[in-house]
Parts: sequence; C-alpha cells; structure tokens
Amino acid sequence: FGDGPLRGRKVVVSAGPTYEDIDPVRFIGNRSSGRMGFAIADAAREAGADVTLVAGPVALATPAGVARVDVRSARQMHDAVLAACDGSDIYIGAAAVGDYRPEQAAGQKLKKHDGAPLRLELTENPDILAAVAARPRPPFLVGFAAETHELARYAQDKLRRKGLDMIAANDVGDGRGFEVADNALVLYWRDGSVSLPRMPKTDLARQLVAHIAERFLSGHGH
Ligand code: PMT
Repeated sequence: FGDGPLRGRKVVVSAGPTYEDIDPVRFIGNRSSGRMGFAIADAAREAGADVTLVAGPVALATPAGVARVDVRSARQMHDAVLAACDGSDIYIGAAAVGDYRPEQAAGQKLKKHDGAPLRLELTENPDILAAVAARPRPPFLVGFAAETHELARYAQDKLRRKGLDMIAANDVGDGRGFEVADNALVLYWRDGSVSLPRMPKTDLARQLVAHIAERFLSGHGH
C-alpha cells in the first residue's frame, strides 16, 4: 500500500448522497456528487492506507486501489459503514446522508388525486457518525458540516455533540460545496482549527488527509 504516513492503516470513507424511496420511481435525494469523498478516498490511499469507500448513488469511477461498497439509502449506508469500520483506524464521513425518509416506500407508483395535496410523513434516519462513535473502540472520527449560515458555530457544535475528533466545515450556500470541482474547508478539533482555502477538491483532499494523519498519529484521538 505504498509508504505514506497512513501505511498499513485501515481508513473508511463515505461519499455521495443517499436516496430515500417514495415509490418505485421517485425518491428524496440531495445534490452531492461524491467528488469530495472520492477525492478523500484517493488521497488516503496515496498516503498508504487500506481504504474502503462506501458510496451512495453517484456517477464516478472508483479510485485505483480502493475497495468500494455501493449503497442507496441512509440505512444501507449505516449498515455498510458500521461493517467496514470494524477494526478500522479512521472514519471520514463525507457523505450527505438524508436526515429523513418516507416511513414506508409505496409498492406502486403514486397516482394524482384531483388536485388534493399529497402528504408525505418522514421519519428520521439513524445518525451514522453517532453509531460509529458509540462502538466500544471507535476509530478516529472525522465528520463534515455542510452549512449555509453560522458555519463555525454549527460545526463546533456538531464536533462536540457527535463526539468527533475533527470536523471539516464547508459553506454550501450559493452553489458552493456540492457538485462543483472546487471547495474550501475549515477544520476544527477540540483545541484548534485551520482554514484550507478554495482549491480543487483533489488538492483539498490531500491537505485534509495530511491534517488527519498528523492528529491521528500524534495520538489526539479518543
Ligand atoms: O459530494 P460533493 O458534490 O463533492 O459535495 C461535497 C459535500 C458538500 C457533500 C461534502 O463536502 C459535505 O459537506 N458532506 C457532508 C454533508 C452533510 O450531510 O452534512 P451535515 O452537516 O448534514 O451532516 C454532518 C455530518 O453528519 C456529516 O459528516 C454526515 O456524513 C454525518 N451524518 C449526517 C446524517 C446522518 N444520518 N448520519 C451521519 O453520519
């Protein structure tokens, strides 16, 4: 696996959106393309790690040397991430996991009803990061925070509330973050932070992985 700083380490990355089915032809999704998470998986492999990439429905090629597990819904992603995290050293949650799903996907295509409103009842999905954090020996945990306002406050709150070792915050207002090729991140950990300016996601992922490796190897995890 090469001889970078993460040589021999097991890293799990999640990427992309989740799709929550409404009926056989409709779903609730989001605009995540998977580019950020796929770039992170590639950068972690470049740093020497043994990488498992749990991918939502995206149209991207698998980075060379990375093991990929494809999923569709948040619950499938939850199960695949928990299985992959068994015995892993680092989990990086870059996926845009749907917070809610229709309680029951209809077995047949829903029909229109003479102009009457259609009500969808949504149930909260399990929190994948929280589930990984609750394991007996959790890996070094890196979450993302996608916010359109009050980025620093919400990110630091997620860092504490979800029991993370690091959080990567991105501003996703006005067409930023999702889908596009560039991104900028602010990394927070318990007693520090660093701003990574806007650059291609491939370069940003390398810098993110270097910061994660540095904090993980200096023993600043759980
Ligand atoms: O895929 P791209 O088009 O390249 O776009 C990249 C991105 C904007 C999607 C990415 O950089 C990003 O911000 N990913 C996280 C998006 C998100 O859902 O953020 P959040 O603030 O809603 O969630 C916070 C964290 O909790 C995330 O690490 C998320 O993976 C995790 N989470 C959320 C819900 C849930 N049920 N389980 C989780 O683990």
